[in-house]
Amino acid sequence: TYETLVALAFGYLLGSIPFGLLLTRAAGLGDVRSIGSGNIGATNVLRTGNKALAAATLLLDLLKGTAAVLIAGAYGPETAIAAGLGAFAGHLFPVWLGFKGGKGVATYIGVLFGLMWQAALLFLAVWIAVALALRYSSLSALVACVVTPVALLLMGRPELATLFAGLSIVVFIKHRANIARLVAGTEGKIGAKG
Ligand code: G3P
Repeated sequence: TYETLVALAFGYLLGSIPFGLLLTRAAGLGDVRSIGSGNIGATNVLRTGNKALAAATLLLDLLKGTAAVLIAGAYGPETAIAAGLGAFAGHLFPVWLGFKGGKGVATYIGVLFGLMWQAALLFLAVWIAVALALRYSSLSALVACVVTPVALLLMGRPELATLFAGLSIVVFIKHRANIARLVAGTEGKIGAKG
């Protein structure tokens, strides 16, 4: 429908704001894409050594997903999902950066938070548990991305389970360089400078 398309476009515009890039630039830290993994996400912003900026990147990349879902949700559940999908796509493929955006983890959590906050808290709990045990941001996200669709299914939300299984596949594809480094044992640990 017309509303669904508007919600998709609205979500995309919100999601395509590259907070990691904007914040590091504003702080005079240069282009975050030229350090560490080259990613614009919070994990790579942390490699600048600025923890507050990394936390702000995580929060803002997350909240743009939540905001898209909640604002569009005023028009119904279908527009909420469309805006969430749009925000996720906008974060990964922002037109402003030649469609080269982030890996989607923070925005995934934010969209999930807007649609079913309990599942988002579970994602965060799994992420934190794996991160505390092994100290890899990428691996923590990948494990949480496997657990989340299964949990949604067990929570009696098969339609959300299908949706997030799809998003998880995209997150995995975006992490293929991380997966190669994890296998090779060369992935950087959380907080190590790049
Ligand atoms: O959310 C991105 C994280 O999982 C990996 O980031 O910079 O280590 O590739 P990075």
